[in-house]
Amino acid sequence: MLKGKKIVLGVTGGIAVYKAVDLVSKLKKAGAQVRVVMTEAATKFVTPLTFKEISGQAVATDMWYANQEFNVEHIALVEWADMMLLAPATANIIGKMAAGIADDLLSTTILACQKPIIVCPAMNTGMYNKTVVQENINKLAKWGMTIMPPAVGHLACGTTGIGRLPEPADIVEFVQQYLAMQEGDLRALKVLVTAAGTREPIDPVRYIGNRSSGKMGYAIAKAASDRGAKVILISGPSLLAPPAGVEFISVESTQEMLDAVLKYYDEVDVVIKAAAVADYKSNVVATQKIKKHDDEGISLLLDRNPDILKILGSRKKKQFLVGFAAETQNLLANAQEKIQKKNLDMIVANDVTLQGAGFNADTNVVKFLFPDGKVRSLEKMAKSAVAEAILDVVKENVTILRK
Ligand code: CTP
Repeated sequence: MLKGKKIVLGVTGGIAVYKAVDLVSKLKKAGAQVRVVMTEAATKFVTPLTFKEISGQAVATDMWYANQEFNVEHIALVEWADMMLLAPATANIIGKMAAGIADDLLSTTILACQKPIIVCPAMNTGMYNKTVVQENINKLAKWGMTIMPPAVGHLACGTTGIGRLPEPADIVEFVQQYLAMQEGDLRALKVLVTAAGTREPIDPVRYIGNRSSGKMGYAIAKAASDRGAKVILISGPSLLAPPAGVEFISVESTQEMLDAVLKYYDEVDVVIKAAAVADYKSNVVATQKIKKHDDEGISLLLDRNPDILKILGSRKKKQFLVGFAAETQNLLANAQEKIQKKNLDMIVANDVTLQGAGFNADTNVVKFLFPDGKVRSLEKMAKSAVAEAILDVVKENVTILRK
């Protein structure tokens, strides 16, 4: 999303200016072009030379500097830019923006700017919580600017609280998400993804589970969110961190996953069920830890769990329903049968016995199957690439469905 984007980064005078140097570097690595405008106070913390070297562009600091690149610098800057980003944004610049004051190059550039503006406030907690600052921030939001809330943590003044400039990687992620919501090819879609395995308790310390890591489902959720979709990720236990920007719901058992999925089903356009759902649960869940006996084995009586996807298939209205089939034999026949049985629009089938496929691997080898019998085989590829390919099919079909 950031490839080729032209960003004017406004840097104002707070201790977090040093982080803005890394921010420029990360924005450039993501493919953006960055031109930095600094206030005089910002230049007291880090020299313009540092930003010039990192951005590879002249740094603008002064309205009146004779040798500047353009005649009317602030107008040239906003004409060049696709968007402005202010990080760190002090209480002072926020106050000036809220009051319409233009008394230096940065505030004048902001006032002249008709492009999107993202503001990253960063200051001491007491200042941030002041009514006047909050009212000013609310004004900027009301006028269409996008505010990235500050992080909570240790502050330069020695206290701990809200007001830290978020980490540069998080700011880049935020900008990417903003752009995805404005321009992403899936921005009109609400996508529900399930991921990882469900667990069925046996006693307070044991459960029935499976080997699913969640990698495939999390990759789909991230890819959909990066392409602008509103994503709800419902996941069984997983070691993975939920992708930024998705609505995350953590569940444990199949019944919990079913309840969560049904809660959102009516409002989504697409459901992608990558979760490895436990088909059976223990008939009795012991309230105390089950003790072993020296000479005897024990039996577990298992009850059938609901088939979530089958329930969704039977209640389907406008949703595009994608299932997964993890098979160890008769891949195509088994997967095709699941399409019919569960009323799916597509199934992603993989033979989990193949090298580089299935649980815990970073790659997958899959086939897409459709209700009309069509099959598309994909090469072995990264799960992130499989995710993109699934979403390409989803996009094409949802567009056709809507016509
Ligand atoms: N699934 C589900 N609820 C279940 C079992 C599976 O929603 N109780 C979903 C999975 O998320 C997946 C698809 O159904 O998208 C296929 O799962 P799989 O376990 O391969 O199929 P089953 O129908 O359970 O058949 P079998 O276990 O006999 O292969």
